[in-house]
Amino acid sequence: MSEAILKTVNVTRRFPVAGSEDFVAVNGVSLEIPRGCLAILKGRSGSGKTTLMNMLGALDFPSDGQIFFCGEDITKWSEAKREMLRREKIGFVFQSVSLIPMMSAYENVEFALRMAGIKKNRKERCEECLKLVGLGGRMHHMPQEMSGGEQQRVAIARAMAHRPGIIFADEPTAELDSATAVNVINLFREMVEKENVTIVMTTHDTSLMGAGDVVFELEDGRLL
Ligand SMILES: Nc1ncnc2c1ncn2[C@@H]1O[C@H](COP(=O)(O)OP(=O)(O)OP(=O)(O)O)[C@@H](O)[C@H]1O
Ligand SMILES: [Mg+2]
Repeated sequence: MSEAILKTVNVTRRFPVAGSEDFVAVNGVSLEIPRGCLAILKGRSGSGKTTLMNMLGALDFPSDGQIFFCGEDITKWSEAKREMLRREKIGFVFQSVSLIPMMSAYENVEFALRMAGIKKNRKERCEECLKLVGLGGRMHHMPQEMSGGEQQRVAIARAMAHRPGIIFADEPTAELDSATAVNVINLFREMVEKENVTIVMTTHDTSLMGAGDVVFELEDGRLL
């Protein structure tokens, strides 16, 4: 039984609302995500998926509760240490594509490697990741010269290039057609199996749930 890569204990996130009580977006969530799995976070719009994921990925702090990454409580870490964690150990894929527009597909992936402080074999790794997402023939295209689905695949290559222990993907398939969405999920499965990375993704798409090793469902901020 492998240790959980991520564990939350009673995580709550409240947002202040002008002229009324705080809004509780995530409410007392305790969960464990095993290492080397594809975990799916599902739930209706507004159920708290992005809010929870932002805390899991050290982009936001819980109002209450603890988050353990490889057994360490990251809510107690300094911002500098959390930033190092994000750069070196975590990969992010956001719903709306966030490539740097002045950089080619290749340069976008290479930039992530530089940010993570990786000096060796950068070229080989960039090419390997872009080939893995099926873009071996588009490496030197600029973002605006690629389709939305291709840009999303560059974002996936960028998220995995520095071999993070965990990748967070928020609705990575929302803007893709169903065939491309299935390709992305198959790619995630392949990454989990070949690179032993842990992937946490959110989705609305019920047809994709079967691909997850674990599925967590949120309703009004609570885990079902
Ligand atoms: N900064 C904020 N201030 C106040 N309320 C917020 C803030 N961020 C999110 N919320 C509220 O918290 C709830 C959860 O939002 P969240 O973005 O986590 O939902 P979600 O499950 O990701 O939804 P979707 O599927 O639409 O992306 C929503 O009702 C939202 O309005
Ligand atoms: Mg969301």
